[in-house]
Amino acid sequence: MTRSLDALRSRRWFAASDMRGFAHRQRIQQMGLRREDVLDKPIVAIINTWSDLSPCHAHLRERAESVKRGVLMAGGMPFELPAMSLGEVMVKPTTMLYRNFLAMEVEELLRSLPIDGVVLLAGCDKTTPATVMGAVSAGLPTIFCPAGGMLSDRHLKRGEPARSIGAGTHTRMFWDEYQAGQIPEPEWIKLEAKMTRSPGTCNVMGTASTMTSMVEALGLALPGATAIPAMDAGHVRMATNCGERIVSMIWDDLTPAKLLTRGAFLNAAAVQMALGGSTNAAVHIIAMARRAGVDLSLADLDAMGRQVPVLANLFPSGDRLMEDFHYAGGLPALMNRIRPHLSLGEMTVTGRTIGENIEGRESLDDEVIRPLERPVSAAGALAVLRGNLAPEGAVMKSSAASPKYFRHTGRALVFDSPAEMNKVCADPELDVDENTVLVLRNAGPVGAPGMPEWGGLPIPKKLLDRGVRDMVRLSDARMSGTHYGSCILHISPEAAVGGPLALVRTGDLIALDVEARTLELKVSNDELARRRADWTPPPRPVTRGFTRLYQDHVLQAHEGCDFDFLQGDDSSPEPAIF
Ligand code: FES
Ligand code: MG
Repeated sequence: MTRSLDALRSRRWFAASDMRGFAHRQRIQQMGLRREDVLDKPIVAIINTWSDLSPCHAHLRERAESVKRGVLMAGGMPFELPAMSLGEVMVKPTTMLYRNFLAMEVEELLRSLPIDGVVLLAGCDKTTPATVMGAVSAGLPTIFCPAGGMLSDRHLKRGEPARSIGAGTHTRMFWDEYQAGQIPEPEWIKLEAKMTRSPGTCNVMGTASTMTSMVEALGLALPGATAIPAMDAGHVRMATNCGERIVSMIWDDLTPAKLLTRGAFLNAAAVQMALGGSTNAAVHIIAMARRAGVDLSLADLDAMGRQVPVLANLFPSGDRLMEDFHYAGGLPALMNRIRPHLSLGEMTVTGRTIGENIEGRESLDDEVIRPLERPVSAAGALAVLRGNLAPEGAVMKSSAASPKYFRHTGRALVFDSPAEMNKVCADPELDVDENTVLVLRNAGPVGAPGMPEWGGLPIPKKLLDRGVRDMVRLSDARMSGTHYGSCILHISPEAAVGGPLALVRTGDLIALDVEARTLELKVSNDELARRRADWTPPPRPVTRGFTRLYQDHVLQAHEGCDFDFLQGDDSSPEPAIF
């Protein structure tokens, strides 16, 4: 223990001898607590992103009780604080629109209330970066308790080998098969009840598992916490451990600022690559780094993508699920495999370094966590392309793309909205072939708004019927981390703010070269200047509320899509107590 009781922030609420101190203690007793429960104990906030419409977090209300048990046993006092839940599949138009909202909510909850440290209960896609961003800005000791993956399912069909199926990736695969008439209606209805077998996050290496793994690699979660299935008794114990550990972290004043160095962020980037993680991580890791005052760019991620091969054999880059990853040793075993690429001296929530945390943690199944000399993909999880079409960069998940498109030139077929795209792609007479480059724009942070996951553009019906399952697709949108295909995403700057993507016309030639990291629009500068002179920004139909605030202040994808006024690590002053 390194700090005295009087150093606790909550003492400024509860130990004050003025009338406000009286009122704070009085109101605590109104809830049936005793004055000594808050006077001489660290106060722990449990930020809970549970809600009745957040299926991946359905168990978090119960899990908060386990965290509380841990806090109490360690001599702290827990208070559960609900925060916006952001159930990925339910929220329209996209949870990304609200990531910064949740981040602000977490920051302000922690700043405005008598809190000494925080346990974050989150996991479904944006909830992880959002809660971490908010906690980093608040600056209090923080531990992240990941929601854990849902249970795996098996797809059994007479006469066919059993397949492990998981949420997200298989939804898209089965949808394509259904569209092509290969799945009969009764089977399609049955599939609806499969794949999502229990509470917990998507059990593939989608955005949820990518982000919770990266936060563990940052040193903000207990070693191995991420891969524990949501419904495993070990998950309950891990939650209790989080509660116990945060109390020691408060006494030691182990704040995020002491953990989140550039080395820690590069470790998280290395983990993203070794996992074949979601492209969404490229946006979130930059946003989190900027909150911590760490300089991290797309170029850093590209460099890491070139060095670290994909070792985790998990959907959508591989063919196993998160439960298999847990049995194989989880993230500590994976990190041990990529030791040469890690900065091992970074401090973590355990009070030990990341190197100490992963020491001796071996892979128990080389099919799930592959050795360096036998990767799932040597192509790398992420490539950052640049060129006259993406001056600030665009990203591609090379390990989930078709190598035949790594060097490709094709004719553009441009859509200005998803409605237009869906209508045109359904046309059986559409002038399109598998070399066409599909382009969707006005789908970025400002344009959509909220940069939704529209980047996995649908294959036109005519080509689906012919068995085509992949094409080159370009957009300023994101793509679900559970999806796959030759999709170039996050084109920056986006079309809606006048990025070159706004100037592309159907029939233009677009050339891409993944090895050279280039993305070029084969149109002369003179012609582009003429088109620019004619260009007007698309209308913004929403003129009020949070959406307006978002469009006025969101940064571009290569900057992490945070708000311009939330950058940096300057903490706002603690509210004065009146
Ligand atoms: Fe919640 Fe995938 S929908 S993690
Ligand atoms: Mg997702």
